[in-house]
Amino acid sequence: MSSQALREARRYEEIYGKRILPEQRPLFHLTPRTGWMNDPNGFCVFRGEYHLFYQYYPYTPIWGPMHWGHAVSRDLLHWEYLPAAMAPDEYYDQDGCFSGSAVTLEDGTHLLIYTSVIMHKLPDGRVRSLQTQSVAVGDGEDYEKYEANPVISENMLPEGSDPRDFRDPKIWREPDGMYRCVVSSRIADAGGDSRILLYRSRDGFHWEFEKVLITNGLRFGRMWECPDFFGLDGKQVLLVSPQDMEPKGFEYHNGNGTLCLIGDYDRETADFRPEYDQAIDYGIDFYAPQTILTPDGRRVMIGWMQNWDACAIRDPEAVWAGQMSTPRELSVRDGRLYQQPIRELDLCRRNRVEHRNVHLTKERMYLDGVRGRVVDMEIRVRPADPEKSYQKFVLRFAEDGETYTSLRFRPSESTLKIDRKFSGSRRAIVHQRRCYVENAQEELRFRVILDRNSCEVFIDGGRKVMSAALYTDLSAEQISFRADGDVIMDVVKYDLII
Ligand code: FRU
Repeated sequence: MSSQALREARRYEEIYGKRILPEQRPLFHLTPRTGWMNDPNGFCVFRGEYHLFYQYYPYTPIWGPMHWGHAVSRDLLHWEYLPAAMAPDEYYDQDGCFSGSAVTLEDGTHLLIYTSVIMHKLPDGRVRSLQTQSVAVGDGEDYEKYEANPVISENMLPEGSDPRDFRDPKIWREPDGMYRCVVSSRIADAGGDSRILLYRSRDGFHWEFEKVLITNGLRFGRMWECPDFFGLDGKQVLLVSPQDMEPKGFEYHNGNGTLCLIGDYDRETADFRPEYDQAIDYGIDFYAPQTILTPDGRRVMIGWMQNWDACAIRDPEAVWAGQMSTPRELSVRDGRLYQQPIRELDLCRRNRVEHRNVHLTKERMYLDGVRGRVVDMEIRVRPADPEKSYQKFVLRFAEDGETYTSLRFRPSESTLKIDRKFSGSRRAIVHQRRCYVENAQEELRFRVILDRNSCEVFIDGGRKVMSAALYTDLSAEQISFRADGDVIMDVVKYDLII
């Protein structure tokens, strides 16, 4: 039985979704059917299709009481909208159905587990949020919230937890059939410190607290949001999105960030021993990623290609706000997380243009066939004389007269900088970020994916990635190159036709 609130949301998105023309959206990065989108939720494979839900407020392109939007795909690139899956329509989630995840139950039905939010009014008039975990069961389109929700309530928190910040369950099924989930939780009176809690269940409905998987200890920001936890290439990976980060060299930046901890895990004792940490994305816009295991065994991650600190980067005219990243295949090599655009994207490459040994100097250079806003480009840059370095290499794209976004590499500091200051933004927000690139003086290698309102840069075979949203007018589609010093560049460029 769908509620009045869900019926209204479905009616609204059905009518207004049609009014957004396909050309007004990115080609293959998922955007909300109408209104606002943040975190990916419930990313999964169900009955042979990929499902992606998302934090959703259909009525305006700004954050509001959270619903779950819903889309399906067979290749993670062509998405089809399904009706909104959940609305905040129960007493325990009346102020929002926050982030969560999905799993297929033993009987073949689909279970969504999410954070149910309620704002309580205290006797003194102050408002206090209560976050618990709830479930809904469905067939891949219509979901029924469980009558005994919430299934993980505040009294199942370990001692010393703050029930105001307890959210974003990520569920998985163990080989022995047991369900487990990790949930973020703020520690009470600890300067905002947080930890990741592990819960287990035989059936997905009856849960018990198992243990504290890991405590932040204020090492990386304060409250960790949106955990994900999985094995990959013989290692165990924990993804989290911390709030209130302080910068650390070129690794972590201020504000909301993403990071992964890589280490070993003992499934029997649920003991996680992290050895390495790193940022997941070194650009401006990436947050709250979630992963799936594809039927052919790939671990694929998708993130919200936006950041809470830079939400003012948007098209003021657009009736949608927020987009997902390109789905990325993950691997762990030598203690590092590598990311590559999913290989399905390679099948969408058309109109190959190749320029080899292009000699770049101060003069801005435009190359035949190299332009566009839905583009996949592989670039290699090296000094013309291996004995003599250059000062900088600069690539501009989404360029048109005064407007452009640039990527600039300086061998002397070995940093690649993305700069969208001149992308048409009228807001005083973060527009630049630098990423340290190891061993690039001899040769800098990267792949750039542009899709109308974004760019994603995969550096050195996916060792580091930088993502940024840009809302430059779509008529700006020039791409240019130049260098201070003598540089030789190879570029292979494709249009992406999805
Ligand atoms: C992360 C987040 C989650 C929360 C959701 C609310 O971006 O703050 O922790 O569940 O967004 O929309």
